[in-house]
Amino acid sequence: MKDTKILNTTIDDLTKAANILKNGGTVIFPTETVYGLGANAMDDNAVKNIFLAKGRPGDNPLIVHIDDFRKIGNYVESVTDIAKKLAARYWPGPMTLILKKKKCISDVVSAGLDTVGIRIPESTEAREFLRLCNLPVAAPSANISGKPSPTTSKHVIDDMMGRVDAIICGKDCEVGIESTVIDATGDVPVILRPGGITPNMVKVVCGNVAIDKGVDGVDSASKPKSPGMKYKHYAPNAEVILVEGNSIEDIVEKIKSEIKNSGEKTIVLCSEETISNFKNIDTMCLGSRNKPETFANKLFYAFRECDIKGYDTIILEGIEKEGIGLAVMNRATRAAHK
Ligand code: TXA
Ligand code: MG
Repeated sequence: MKDTKILNTTIDDLTKAANILKNGGTVIFPTETVYGLGANAMDDNAVKNIFLAKGRPGDNPLIVHIDDFRKIGNYVESVTDIAKKLAARYWPGPMTLILKKKKCISDVVSAGLDTVGIRIPESTEAREFLRLCNLPVAAPSANISGKPSPTTSKHVIDDMMGRVDAIICGKDCEVGIESTVIDATGDVPVILRPGGITPNMVKVVCGNVAIDKGVDGVDSASKPKSPGMKYKHYAPNAEVILVEGNSIEDIVEKIKSEIKNSGEKTIVLCSEETISNFKNIDTMCLGSRNKPETFANKLFYAFRECDIKGYDTIILEGIEKEGIGLAVMNRATRAAHK
């Protein structure tokens, strides 16, 4: 058990946190997507402690966070044209670019690949912390491996007290799901994991976009390019039943029939358009079907709250895979996969 320091986002505390990280420690920090569990990306031992704290498989590489685009050349071999274009438009922000790595990035970070994922977060607290660290900071989401990523400091503390050296408690995360991971090593950007930056937003900047096969479905026969996509992920303790349909009426009917087959400790996570149809059952609204960003913002939060309240079944209304809806459904499908 570690003696975890609880810190806030004052300059004093961010400086304390940065010093802990510079001395080889593990520090959890808030970002606009989800909380990250950081360590010095150039220190093998520090990075190994991330995998230990999360119980994460060693073949799943970590994202490296920096505060300033001018530093990227220290860590990657070359910044491709598409990477330059995407960075200019969407950094700082919820986007991770995969590029050929330099040797200074620990092989433990890249899980033996010759590439590394780089992200400049939008959150000012995150960037201030990274600036004070003045190091590349490897950071996966700050959850126990397989669980939903934490989007509030309370959810971080639930998972990680005693497992890391410090936790910076900041705001709730605005985006609520992880960054878009884009392979930017070639001429065409390839989305390996959907997130806050949508395929259209990538296409607008680069003229084209490809989506890796691993993004849809959970057990595609092909090896996903983003190793993390092959694991069961984002799952609350409760069983998740994901309900999709051709129309709102169809979805409502299907959810009603799932309710009939479920036990007492069931909750329906649904939209404001459907919620009035579900009587005599606990419900939680994730927002409007027309605003998939509200679903993104609440999905992981809702999963964790359902666990805290002891539900054993979650019936989850599916939404269209448009815009950030693609990322929401990617997480929902993985959470529902047995
Ligand atoms: O929003 C985020 O991205 C958050 C915050 C903390 O920045 N971080 C995050 O990290 O979600 P993590 O480790 O939970 O997810 C990293 C994803 C995994 O699916 C991993 O397989 C993929 O990125 N990845 C990392 N490096 C890669 C590489 N070199 N090639 C392909 N995929 C990579
Ligand atoms: Mg994660």
